[in-house]
Amino acid sequence: MNSFQINKILGALLGTCLVLLVVHIAANALFTPPVAAKPGYEIAVKEETSGGAKTAAKPAEQPIEALLASASAEHGAEIAKQCAVCHNFQEGQGPKIGPDLYGVVGRKIASAPGFNYTAALKALTGTWTFDELNKWITDPRAMVPGTAMTFAGLSSEKQRADVIAYLDSLSKNPVPLPKSSAPPAATSASPPGGGTANSPAAAAPVEPKAPAPAAKE
Ligand code: HEC
Repeated sequence: MNSFQINKILGALLGTCLVLLVVHIAANALFTPPVAAKPGYEIAVKEETSGGAKTAAKPAEQPIEALLASASAEHGAEIAKQCAVCHNFQEGQGPKIGPDLYGVVGRKIASAPGFNYTAALKALTGTWTFDELNKWITDPRAMVPGTAMTFAGLSSEKQRADVIAYLDSLSKNPVPLPKSSAPPAATSASPPGGGTANSPAAAAPVEPKAPAPAAKE
């Protein structure tokens, strides 16, 4: 092996090293990750804004008022047969498995005489408004965990509105149902001035009401 051959071999080695060096530098230039200004990981968590955001995020439950405007107490009486297993609807009939529901709209929650309510329901304050009843009938045990009302609930809001209109009719002085002014779609179902639930033909079991003389409120 003469020196010329040795030179060739060394040259080849040197050349390879040069190429490797160039590739290394080029690769670094291409693929270097950006150097973080702050050490550590960035964790993207959306900040929870207070109160209001939560309620807005919920799928807005439709207020029952709009549906009540076109609700049918007659139809509600049919649906309420499911409730009659446990509830009486007429004045003075007293409790069954559940309390008497005569005049329940506007009545103080858990206040029917002679019925032993659960502590869970008694813990609620206020009266049975249309809205509260709507929540209750949707799913009693979701609204009041621990209640003794083992009723699955009515998932149809139309049915709930009808039942509530029926419950409202079980009174000498029914709470006036909301008028159908808000949603234009509902107006066709409800005669002007009265509202189907107020018509004398509706299933008002105690005494038929006069055909709503003072409908303007
Ligand atoms: C399986 C029996 C059962 C059925 C069916 C049932 N309930 Fe009840 N309900 C009860 C019981 C028991 C209570 C008392 C709950 C408590 O004390 O926690 C109650 C309480 C109530 C109350 C509260 C009354 C008050 O005085 O505060 C309302 C309103 C009510 N029920 C409406 C209905 C309606 C409307 C239906 C039908 C859609 C219905 N319930 C079906 C058993 C029943």
